[in-house]
Amino acid sequence: MDIIAVEGGRRLSGNVRISGSKNAALPILVSSLLVDGTCVFNNVPDLMDIRSIKLLLEDLGARVETQGSSVSIDATGVNKFEASYDLVRKMRASILVLGPILARQKKARVSLPGGCAIGARPINLHLKGIAALGADITLEHGYVEASAEKLTGADIYFDIVSVGATESLMMTAALAEGVTLLRNAAREPEITALADVLNSMGAKIEGAGTPEIKITGVSRLNPVTVSIIPDRIEAGTFMVAAAMTAGDVTLTDCEPEHLGAVIHKLKLSGSRVDVLDKSIRVVGTTDIQAIDIRTVPYPGFPTDMQAQFMAMLTVAKGTSVIRETIFENRFIHVSELKRMGADITLEGGNVATVKGVPHLSGAPVMASDLRASASLILAGLVAEGETVVNRVYHLDRGYESIEKKFEGLGGVVLRKKG
Ligand code: UD1
Repeated sequence: MDIIAVEGGRRLSGNVRISGSKNAALPILVSSLLVDGTCVFNNVPDLMDIRSIKLLLEDLGARVETQGSSVSIDATGVNKFEASYDLVRKMRASILVLGPILARQKKARVSLPGGCAIGARPINLHLKGIAALGADITLEHGYVEASAEKLTGADIYFDIVSVGATESLMMTAALAEGVTLLRNAAREPEITALADVLNSMGAKIEGAGTPEIKITGVSRLNPVTVSIIPDRIEAGTFMVAAAMTAGDVTLTDCEPEHLGAVIHKLKLSGSRVDVLDKSIRVVGTTDIQAIDIRTVPYPGFPTDMQAQFMAMLTVAKGTSVIRETIFENRFIHVSELKRMGADITLEGGNVATVKGVPHLSGAPVMASDLRASASLILAGLVAEGETVVNRVYHLDRGYESIEKKFEGLGGVVLRKKG
């Protein structure tokens, strides 16, 4: 199993290109299930999670071809309605296929998903929403079974703001009869990106990016060629890396508009952030200031950037308080950061108090989930000596060529056989 060895103490500088967004690409690739004919998706990142969803679509009977960052999918031959445990367990986002398979095949059987070890992560909102469109849903032997002769538009209110459930329902309702209203919908850029793709396929979706989304069902969707938006979390991760190494890094091919909260917090902590059209320059400081963070749905501060900011704040001047409000159990990186010398105390499982220390020291550490893994690499970049990150497969789920990108910025981040 691969490990990543990070040598601390290098100041990062130069340009880094931001890849296509994993979280936007996953539902968009799945949306090809709603179409007969070949869809072409450009700027798709080469990641484990993307490979997993492509395997799942192929297993269902779709023809999937990849050429560089371009993926074409023809779902005309899809004849299966079951997504098996082996394919679904690797990634929670696999549940996104439930609604589209149902819309296409009138029935669907999808294994209950696995994914990151960050809390319970239920799928009740997906299921309640799909049931509201007229599906019969049962849970048996670890599988969700859904069937519906016809899907009909409905008024759906989400008790919790959920990115995945909003995406599931947008896709499923796109082909339902009549109007669906999604209230308290997620507003993340990935939602708007999916709505844009569905609309270019011929769907009628209004209000994506606001808490109320109106979907007027259509009878069919058509093939499209579209490009995936840049990954705001990858961008944010490199911004924090630049900030905490007192570096000078320019991100290219990114979308500054999607990074408002991250830019705001980085500036508060003392970094200079210059925003150009599709690029962002971050000039870090050796004098990082403590800041408080509360994770909230978009446009608030993203939970997917919490671990990386925590890594930075371990070496800030003063005490920072970080509140995680989206997921339970999303502080698994704390114990590993502490092994590197960080001073962090946890209260009640979702509040971390981080007292800045003068320096971290390199140590062998264990990656536990995707973003936690990134935070350990960031910590390694400023730690004295070598940090060895084990269980790198978590990182490979969501960061494309991360070590090469760091290398291009002058970092010493090496992948080795463990
Ligand atoms: C997506 C992102 C993930 C990000 C998260 C929050 C993808 C592939 N993943 O995950 O990187 O951290 O949004 O921004 O896009 N919930 C329920 N019932 C449900 C669904 C969710 O209670 O049926 C809860 C979750 O447990 C969590 C909250 O809602 O507490 C938000 O989760 P959600 O937005 O659904 O996250 P994902 O779509 O899984």
